Amino acid sequence: MRKSVLSEDPADVHARHVLTPWVAQGNRRPPTIARGEGCYLYDDRGKRYLDFVSGLVAVNLGHGHAGLAKAIGEQAARLGYAPPSFGDEHRARLAQAIAEIGPWDGEGRIFFTTGGGEANEDAVKFARALTGRHKVLTAYRSFHGSAPGAGTLTGENRRWPNEPGLPGVVRFFAPFPYRSPFFTRDAAEESTRALAHLDEIVTFEGADRIAALLIEPVVGSNGVILYPEGYLRGLRAMCNRHGILLIFDEVMTGFGRTGAAFASERFGVVPDMFTFAKGVTSAYVPLGGVAVRESLASHFDVHPLPSGHTFSGHPLGMAAGLAALDAYRDENIFERAREMETPLRARFEELQRRHRSLGEVRGVGAFFGLELVRDRESREPLVAWQGTASLQPFFNDLLARGLYLFGRYNTVIVAPPLVAGPAEFDEATAILDAALTTLEEGM
Ligand SMILES: Cc1ncc(COP(=O)(O)O)c(C=O)c1O
Repeated sequence: MRKSVLSEDPADVHARHVLTPWVAQGNRRPPTIARGEGCYLYDDRGKRYLDFVSGLVAVNLGHGHAGLAKAIGEQAARLGYAPPSFGDEHRARLAQAIAEIGPWDGEGRIFFTTGGGEANEDAVKFARALTGRHKVLTAYRSFHGSAPGAGTLTGENRRWPNEPGLPGVVRFFAPFPYRSPFFTRDAAEESTRALAHLDEIVTFEGADRIAALLIEPVVGSNGVILYPEGYLRGLRAMCNRHGILLIFDEVMTGFGRTGAAFASERFGVVPDMFTFAKGVTSAYVPLGGVAVRESLASHFDVHPLPSGHTFSGHPLGMAAGLAALDAYRDENIFERAREMETPLRARFEELQRRHRSLGEVRGVGAFFGLELVRDRESREPLVAWQGTASLQPFFNDLLARGLYLFGRYNTVIVAPPLVAGPAEFDEATAILDAALTTLEEGM
């Protein structure tokens, strides 16, 4: 007879029935998370974890936000679903609210999806329809999603299972001052050489065959890499010269993470489209979207929009998004994220003084990357990029000490909920300090 799930430890049931993203399934026993409150998650045994990376850089308002929970519950009771072809007051108001904080002086139109990868695929489809061109440029150190379309747009090795993938995606190296692909040690020179490299790629690919350039304005899971001053502006100018549409993937950077509504505002560069997900509902309901500037969106007044999803503009997502945007405004969340930058940087730089394994601290707003190295002089990464070794034992140690963080290869991503304060900063720093000491003892 089938054993009752209720009588078994959920972790055992999980191991038997759930496939977890990106990892080999054996020998894993993550805690079973039972509830969340503010910056903390609690497992089913009552152990508390400081979530200092907002889930997957998404829970910008922290866990257990009462206003969000109420809005979602009320919407579920009122209307659980209506097809996207109908009008919906919340859908209209959320699209307007996003346009209002977007880069086009309140203009622009939104196509809703259920996540970031889907949004990137749709943005590319729109760019192809709008330009009549088919090639798309993306950076090597990028992640744009995992399904075959978005997976092909992705630069790093999470792309590989999709190969050969979609035709027409051309990749380039973007600047990375700490590990320059252009042999520079100077950020301005890095930007200049990166733009020249891209110009050459555009020439060889044929500028009039390129529909769009899709880029994360701050590289997220590939190491929280900040582009040097002038690079994003240079991309804008290059796209203008050739009629290429500039698409910002704001899936991680959107809704306050960089200390502004969007990274486009923080860096003063206006894209033609941007994609979003994660923070739009503070991750309480799956929702993503493509925002399109009005001068392009009006093309679809006479041409059918070449995309659609059952869950486009799902009422629960709309209710959650509106409640999240209200909270972002009422709780001054974007300003708070901007104010977090200095105290976070100070604490991480202090850690860097104490720990030889901390090669570089970089970040903006409440979005930081800590690069772990074997040796500060040579900058040899603690685990190789695209290699098989991982920092998982370090992350497991942090978790055992009550701090949840994740990263990729040798970079630890730090992106606390935008409601975190000095007490949480100190707690996270103290745990990192202890775990780095243990890590270095084994080096
Ligand atoms: C920059 C970026 N784009 C796209 C995605 C994919 O979003 P989703 O997982 O919602 O499909 C992610 C996910 O982490 C991301 O970080």
